Amino acid sequence: MTAGNVAARDPARFIRDNTLLHEPPLVPEVRLHLASEIVPIWQMTEEELEKTGLPPPFWAFAWAGGQALSRYILDNPGIVAGRRVLDFGSGSGMIGIAAMKAGAASVLAADIDRFAVSAIALNAAVNEVAVAVTAEDIVGVENRGWDVVLVGDMCYERPLAERVEAWLRRLAGEGVTVLIGDPGRTYLPKSGLEKLTSYAVMTTRELEDTDVRNTSVWRVLPL
Ligand SMILES: C[S@@+](CC[C@H](N)C(=O)[O-])C[C@H]1O[C@@H](n2cnc3c(N)ncnc32)[C@H](O)[C@@H]1O
Repeated sequence: MTAGNVAARDPARFIRDNTLLHEPPLVPEVRLHLASEIVPIWQMTEEELEKTGLPPPFWAFAWAGGQALSRYILDNPGIVAGRRVLDFGSGSGMIGIAAMKAGAASVLAADIDRFAVSAIALNAAVNEVAVAVTAEDIVGVENRGWDVVLVGDMCYERPLAERVEAWLRRLAGEGVTVLIGDPGRTYLPKSGLEKLTSYAVMTTRELEDTDVRNTSVWRVLPL
């Protein structure tokens, strides 16, 4: 059976077979199924992945923006303690898992990639926290009771970033605490953000072309 077939039939098995459990460098409190140099998914180019029918495995990496935001939440648990949290564009689930470890009342992790949905469920179980997951595209929806919205590394594509920014500003205007973790991606909004802190996040050259990325946590200001 090809990798594509296994993946289509059983995403959870594909994830377990193609990742190792690791702690991201800046977030050692959280263990995740991640790609590593010694497993095949790392070596597959985007083109090869497409041939297998798999979308790029964003869920297999702990992105710099997500690591910074997770670190900030773990070090400032009052932001999420007792509150209902949305981890938007969750990928591996790292930020949502960090929020539960920091005492959130509940976390909904949203990601439109069904492999991410499986990865989040696997990773939540490894960390022994409860995280609800949705694959619905929720950009633009009314607030469903979230007190805090956390967004890690989502400013890498213009149409997505523009849609998301308008939605996040509306939520911020309604009193929701909206935080973004970002390592200087091209489509991070140029204004209307308050910088809360910055970290030097260890990355890999294969993914980011550099060993360290200066990564900031921002609060989204209402319009
Ligand atoms: C660069 S990854 C960041 C993952 C994670 N937040 C982190 O920092 O490690 C971006 C994620 O956003 C997801 N995504 C893209 N468009 C989305 C949408 N409209 N709704 C929810 N998730 C989306 C992708 O599937 C991917 O998992």
